[in-house]
Amino acid sequence: MKRVLVAFASKRGSTAEIAQAIADTLQEQGLSVDCREAGDIRSLQGYDAVVLGSAVYIKRWRHDGKDFLGRHASELARLPFWVFSSGPVGDPDAPSDPAWLEPPRIIERASALGARDHVVFGGRLPLHPRGPIERAMAKGIPEQFHDRRDWNEIRAWSIDLAAEIQAATAAARG
Ligand SMILES: Cc1cc2nc3c(=O)[nH]c(=O)nc-3n(C[C@H](O)[C@H](O)[C@H](O)COP(=O)(O)O)c2cc1C
Repeated sequence: MKRVLVAFASKRGSTAEIAQAIADTLQEQGLSVDCREAGDIRSLQGYDAVVLGSAVYIKRWRHDGKDFLGRHASELARLPFWVFSSGPVGDPDAPSDPAWLEPPRIIERASALGARDHVVFGGRLPLHPRGPIERAMAKGIPEQFHDRRDWNEIRAWSIDLAAEIQAATAAARG
C-alpha cells in the first residue's frame, strides 16, 4: 500500500483539522496515511507522496511549514508532493490582495521543487481569541464568516488527490 505523509503547520488548530480531514479521505481511498506536525518530521524516507499545508499569518506561512520545504528539499524534489494554505476568513465577496491568500515566495519555492498543485482553503479564526490582534479581527468580522472551511471542498480535493497519488506512484514504479 502506498504511504502518504500529510504534514501541517498550524498555530490555533484549524489547519491541523483540515490536514486530518485530507488524511482521513486519502485513507478511505485506499492509501496508508500519516498526519503529523511538519516540525516533528525528521525524514521523508518510506513515504511515496507528501502533502504539506500551512496556516497563513500576515502573508506568511508558519515557520515550521516554510522550514519543512527547506529541510526536506532534496527528498521533495524526488517525490510527488502537493501543497495547501489555509487562511481566508471574513466575507468571501470582499476583494482581497492575492498575496494575502498565497505567500508568493513560498509558492515559487514549492513549485521549483516540483509541487503538483497548490490550493487555498478557507480558514477559521480562533474560537477563543487571545491578544489584541486576534480580538480585533474577531470583532471586525461577522460571526458567520469566522469559519470559512468548506469540508465538501476539502473532501472533493482529497478524492481527486488520491487518484493523482495513485497515478503518480504507479508511474514512478514504472
Ligand atoms: C493575526 C492574524 C493574521 C492573519 N493573517 C492572514 C493572512 O495574511 N492571510 C490569510 O489568508 N489569513 C490570515 N489569517 C487567518 C488565519 O490564517 C486563519 O485563521 C487560519 O485558519 C489559522 O490557522 P490555524 O488555526 O491552523 O493557526 C490571519 C489570522 C490572524 C489571527
